[in-house]
Amino acid sequence: MSLFQRSRSVLLAVAAAGVVVASGVAVIGTAEAATTLGASAAEKGRYFGAAIAAGRLGDSTYTGILTREFNSVTPENEMKWDATEPSQGRFTFTNGDRILNQGLSNGSKVRGHALLWHAQQPGWAQSLSGSALRSAAINHVTQVATHYKGKIHSWDVVNEAFADGGSGGRRDSNLQRTGNDWIEAAFRAARAADPAAKLCYNDYNTDGVNAKSTGIYNMVRDFKSRGVPIDCVGFQSHLGTGIAGDYQANLQRFADLGVDVQITELDVAQGGNQANIYAAVTRACLAVSRCTGITVWGIRDSDSWRTGENPLLFDNSGNKKAAYTSVLNALNAGGTTTPPSPSSPSPSTPPQPGGACSATISLNSWNGGFVATVRVTAGSAGLNGWTVGVTLPSGTAVTGTWSASGSGTSGAVTFRNVSYNGQLSAGGATEFGFQGTGAGPTATPTCSAG
Ligand code: G3I
Repeated sequence: MSLFQRSRSVLLAVAAAGVVVASGVAVIGTAEAATTLGASAAEKGRYFGAAIAAGRLGDSTYTGILTREFNSVTPENEMKWDATEPSQGRFTFTNGDRILNQGLSNGSKVRGHALLWHAQQPGWAQSLSGSALRSAAINHVTQVATHYKGKIHSWDVVNEAFADGGSGGRRDSNLQRTGNDWIEAAFRAARAADPAAKLCYNDYNTDGVNAKSTGIYNMVRDFKSRGVPIDCVGFQSHLGTGIAGDYQANLQRFADLGVDVQITELDVAQGGNQANIYAAVTRACLAVSRCTGITVWGIRDSDSWRTGENPLLFDNSGNKKAAYTSVLNALNAGGTTTPPSPSSPSPSTPPQPGGACSATISLNSWNGGFVATVRVTAGSAGLNGWTVGVTLPSGTAVTGTWSASGSGTSGAVTFRNVSYNGQLSAGGATEFGFQGTGAGPTATPTCSAG
């Protein structure tokens, strides 16, 4: 059945049931429905990404799909420890930079993967332990995050640190044996090196409420309560032939802790249910306002690490599979929705669509410092430039700004747009950020045109 036929039969079925056609359904099959994954996800304020390999960038079928369909990329292997620091203190970023530049040149977000992981460590790190390993690991985080400073949307700071099974505890590893605080030390080092990147904890077998996801949930809750800088949790979602009934509820409970959630490595075993499972994951992300994007772990089945399982959205020749259509339909069925709020805590002012513009601040703070992300939303007339005013409490000072031009470091400070983010269409939004010392801003920001 073609997409057109399928859309038509959905509409007929709804009409036959006497149901008022909801806007979400009406969108399917209309001229306005987005025709690529990235474009449709962007309409929902989200990204749709793929893990990519530097070694495949010479394949035009591969890059054709990549640039057409995806607006986020993750290096499958090129930013891992063994790739970026093959001998201690000697850093090689050639292939990581190729992925970065591929993404940036296509206007995509770039997810960094992964700063610390028990696997894919270089041999020299595998043979270290104790304080020598701890300092080598923290130096690695600092050096790599500094190299990519300002260019990475989200970093998987720590990958797969929890054990499988029912313990809900940490996985044994050389890193874990340096002390239970290695994860928070890594997050603090990453924040210091690249304050603009969202910092994620990433793991698998966490796709529902279970002992492992609950162990991670408890760690994130503890981090938030103690001011350890964590912004997001990645759910890898390497799925088989089923999906947990509480998949969405699990995402939501993490979001309720004040972190973003992301589907980071999605692939689904081919079988009768593949298309339905892909659609269910997509719907779950759309239903959780803090689910900011989905990444599939490869492009064509032949690119997948799951050899023989055909778990991706495109077949070996690059043709769209039924799973692709089901994801695109699920994205489009969400209609054109307002993008979700950027990050925790709740915005300090609601959007004011009738005014010239409005600004909301979300703050990540720790003892002695903070990073503020400011979202500027244009009113109904659109904008040709904007100025945001923020009053800082006594003792707070701005030490750095990105995607805006700042004036003043304490007291009443202002931020103006830079060349590439001043023009906003009606209701459009952009983000900038600043970091500083002290407690961070608490007052409501102002926003004016010009
Ligand atoms: O590049 C070498 C090549 O020169 C050599 O000839 C060949 C021989 O085996 O190996 C090649 O390297 C392989 C590399 O993938 C690139 O293809 C490694 O052996 C292989 O171990 C590596 O596998 C990667 C795996 O992580 C390592 O654990 C997969 O590509 C990658 O998809 C996978 O990704 C992980 C995520 O990072 C974390 N979550 C799970 C996910 C799947 O395992």
